[in-house]
Amino acid sequence: MKYGIFGDVHSNLEALEAVLADMEDQNVTHPLCIGDLVGYNANPSECLEVVRALGCPVVRGNHDELVTHAQNPVAFSKDAKEALSFSRQQLSPAHLNYLRRLPFTHMEGPLTLVHASLDGPENWAYVSTRLEAQTSFFYQKTNLCFIGHTHRPAVFLKEKEVRPVEFRKVDVHPERLKVARKFLFNVGSVGQPRDGDWRAAYVTYDPHEQIVDLRRVGYEVDKAAAKILKAGLPDSLAKRLFKGE
Ligand SMILES: [Fe+2]
Repeated sequence: MKYGIFGDVHSNLEALEAVLADMEDQNVTHPLCIGDLVGYNANPSECLEVVRALGCPVVRGNHDELVTHAQNPVAFSKDAKEALSFSRQQLSPAHLNYLRRLPFTHMEGPLTLVHASLDGPENWAYVSTRLEAQTSFFYQKTNLCFIGHTHRPAVFLKEKEVRPVEFRKVDVHPERLKVARKFLFNVGSVGQPRDGDWRAAYVTYDPHEQIVDLRRVGYEVDKAAAKILKAGLPDSLAKRLFKGE
């Protein structure tokens, strides 16, 4: 048994397919999705169908929620609004109903999934700083929690205090822990990474080895970018894919 935790797909079919192929290579048996299936890129319906067909737990992202509203949020950037409108036009009523039914959180054994902070998941607060992680930890009942939203992979560890740790094969074995510890993992983004690495990001969790690992997967970024332009979406949404920003 091995988990593959992924999210912030944002309608990038090429990146999603590459990640799912990598999960197969990594012998992932249990995919889990932290939301934001739609928005930004050119294939919202296709990505939603692919994720739905996995039959795996999926939690709601802010784009998944806002695409079901009639109006775009004032706070979104111009690019994000255009892409959200495009997604809304592409999705069928059945797709929108699927998104409306997504839960904000999912708990399974030792882990919790949520798109943003556990401090009011419906408020979509970012977890980027130690203080923001500390606030989310307050509501975390399981040892492990997997989030997204910032599109930047990160790990926070809570011992007596909260601190960030390097994301490289993180050992989460309870018996190897000296004091009570909790981990908060940001799994990065499949479809629009923003940490300066253009490759799709996701995370594997092996409950037997008790190792959480960050994976980066190359994909046909030229193809995804060309589709954005063909769809009439802003050029900047295509350009940022090459830079991972
Ligand atoms: Fe997102």
